[in-house]
Amino acid sequence: MQYKLAIIGFGNVGQGLVQILRDKGTELSKQFGADFRIVAICDLLKGSVCNPSGLDPATLLDVVAATGKIETMSAPHHGWDALRTIAESGADVVVELSYTDLKTGEPALTHLRAALNAGKHVVTTNKGPIALHYAELKKLADAKGMEIGAEGTVMSGTPSMRLGLELLAAAGVSRVQGIINGTTNYILTQMESGMTYADALNEAQAKGYAEADPTGDVEGYDAAGKAVILANLLMGATLTMNDVDRTGITGLTLQDIESAKAKDERWKLIGKVEKSGGKVSASVKPTRLPVTHPLASVGGATNALTFTTDLLGDVTLIGPGAGRLETGYAVLGDLLAIHRRFGK
Ligand code: HSE
Repeated sequence: MQYKLAIIGFGNVGQGLVQILRDKGTELSKQFGADFRIVAICDLLKGSVCNPSGLDPATLLDVVAATGKIETMSAPHHGWDALRTIAESGADVVVELSYTDLKTGEPALTHLRAALNAGKHVVTTNKGPIALHYAELKKLADAKGMEIGAEGTVMSGTPSMRLGLELLAAAGVSRVQGIINGTTNYILTQMESGMTYADALNEAQAKGYAEADPTGDVEGYDAAGKAVILANLLMGATLTMNDVDRTGITGLTLQDIESAKAKDERWKLIGKVEKSGGKVSASVKPTRLPVTHPLASVGGATNALTFTTDLLGDVTLIGPGAGRLETGYAVLGDLLAIHRRFGK
């Protein structure tokens, strides 16, 4: 079965996805019977290109690496904006990877609405529209018989959403807590080895973990957005960003880190979502944990989430929380889920 993909946003994640399709496309087609064909890419800075019969992933990556643009790639159409790309590229699935805005969810929200209204499945790693407008988008998707894939919004390609939404759905999840921001965990880990905050943040940006505006990471907004997503998608809550009791890591000094270390403790930015008496609450806070605590040994950009359930007790998932290929993989997981559901 062939799926035509239009990719909106061609930064780290988009390029990670295209790299995976370049390297594994043939294998995926053999293993799953799913042929994912990129028909259009549209990016605010890199331009846009569309070929309804398919764009070669290797050429796309070579052109962007050489020129920083995709406009130079030979194709029948160039210069389309996101909405025209969604409407006219002939895509079956719109992969929305534009930058995250946790205040409005735009421009991704408009793109997702347009794609669903046009009867296309959507896959996104963008936390803005999912944290702020999931209920509306899900209603629209259901009305149109379409799927919304949002695995990559929490823990990148580590399958936290699928674990919570499908595999633990009947286990009675009462609490989900852990490390859900890779950038801050990377910074805290590096600071423990003596690096300055500024150098550690620079490294996290260079490695592609941080948001376009890293304030969202270090002030805890990114983790708060993920906490809202966990609460609303896994626990059926209707939380907003303002409902999250949020503190970031910018108040932590090297001295705080050293004094924790002297007591065999470690600072971690812990996101928590809890259901109690029918009410769901969420928080994001720097927390000092004994080094023997299971979350204390989770270092670098790695994330971890412990699901507390009625039937299984605690189930903990540890894996990458950010990164180019890691988040690209989340999109692939959602594409394969669409194939499992609709590819008959
Ligand atoms: N900036 C995010 C992080 C990316 O550092 O975790 C993944 O959502």
